Amino acid sequence: MAAAAQPIFWLGKETLRVSAALFAENRRGLCRGLRAKEGLVPKSVVVLQGGEQTQRYCTDTDVLFRQESFFHWAFGVTEADCYGAIDVDSGKSILFVPKLPDSYATWMGEIYTKEHFKEKYAVDEVQYTPDIADVLSKLTPAVLLTLRGKNTDSGSTCREASFDGISGFEVNNTLLHPIIVECRLIKNDMELEVLRYTNRISSEAHKMIMKNVKPGQKEYEMESLFQHYCYTKGGMRHTSYTCICGTGNNSSVLHYGHAGAPNDKLIMDGDMCLFDMGGEYYCYSSDITCSFPANGKFTPDQRAIYEAVLKASKTVMAAIKPGVKWTDMHRLADRVHLEELVKIGILNGSVEDMMKVFLGSVFMPHGLGHLLGIDVHDVGGYPVGVERIDEPGLRSLRMGRLVQERMVLTVEPGIYFINHLLDQALANATQSCFINNEVLARFRGFGGVRIEDDIAVTATGMELLTCVPRTVEEIEAFMADPEKSFSPVV
Ligand code: GLY
Ligand code: MN
Ligand code: MN
Repeated sequence: MAAAAQPIFWLGKETLRVSAALFAENRRGLCRGLRAKEGLVPKSVVVLQGGEQTQRYCTDTDVLFRQESFFHWAFGVTEADCYGAIDVDSGKSILFVPKLPDSYATWMGEIYTKEHFKEKYAVDEVQYTPDIADVLSKLTPAVLLTLRGKNTDSGSTCREASFDGISGFEVNNTLLHPIIVECRLIKNDMELEVLRYTNRISSEAHKMIMKNVKPGQKEYEMESLFQHYCYTKGGMRHTSYTCICGTGNNSSVLHYGHAGAPNDKLIMDGDMCLFDMGGEYYCYSSDITCSFPANGKFTPDQRAIYEAVLKASKTVMAAIKPGVKWTDMHRLADRVHLEELVKIGILNGSVEDMMKVFLGSVFMPHGLGHLLGIDVHDVGGYPVGVERIDEPGLRSLRMGRLVQERMVLTVEPGIYFINHLLDQALANATQSCFINNEVLARFRGFGGVRIEDDIAVTATGMELLTCVPRTVEEIEAFMADPEKSFSPVV
């Protein structure tokens, strides 16, 4: 089918139209990758199981469904409880949809025909899931390729497709995972378009918050505003992760905002805000952090720390291009932070020597950034043969490989004043010798600054997807004037 004739996913109004051609291209890339793989036999058929509708604990209350990421990448199907098959030789795609009971029509709405799903998703064939074994056996496959492999961020193993009758087939569950992960790593043009969109809407939402934040509000009001903007303007029903709205000392808590610390502090005059939030559209993510003073005006200390992080961000972005090592980018950010902390007076001595004792990780304990795509921490950071470097800081880096064109990454340097890490460093003679404790004491309770942008790697450098005020001057001017819009200096 020609691309122009493909069906589209669209939520109306100004939301993005996404062609089903995106997923057809992904499937073609997967078949190419598989056919090039040594050990693949003719008549191999990929079988993926989509996400399942679940309920809250033992109740009958549905949890809002979000598609499983590999299945979304291959089929773009929004419904739960489906399977998909791809014949590797021909590229033929078969979608299996549940056979729904009549009561579904009463409680959930219209029961659509197989023809409806065939048109909606532009697959070659649609069948019902109870028929999966029969339908697949008619293809006389030599082997079914199922998906089993470890997510290198969570350590969890993805759920392998399983259905009644699968024991009658030859199954290989090791071949598919590394290849589909490599495919997901490199974004096609249509995927880049969606990621530009998620970044545009999420950037606008962050800007709206910068205009509305005031001391006296609760952090969760900012979370709510962000979600409202992303859903109303962008059709984003999900965020890519739990919103992090840390203010004051909470801005040093890297993944603040969870159920035990639910963005419920009152925002105070003088607080730094660190708002890390990203909307998700059609399962594609964004991941943006803006740090700024709640009252719109940086103190000298806030400015100094902010500009140190901004310098790290700009230095890294200027260095990113295909072929550079991501671990080197992390070390580069550490180096800039340490140089700037010396200028501020928190540290003194040789930055070279500080690097040898991993002093950077005291202030930035997380990784510089990670792959972004259908998952906010997208797959592919550590393929077989690329080992995580077991050093403070670098061991938290979610990607250890060389930067490649069409990767989408976050660049998120940060400096945080985390009491237990500062105390550990002060108790460690090899690190404490560089720390001026009197100056450091002034920053206890400061919180932290993170500047997080999303970028796409180009042939010669990078494309910045995020568009928010970033310099101190831009932020102060933007927050001071309710009418002022923001356009970046290019
Ligand atoms: N929002 C989570 C992260 O920045 O990785
Ligand atoms: Mn983030
Ligand atoms: Mn991130």
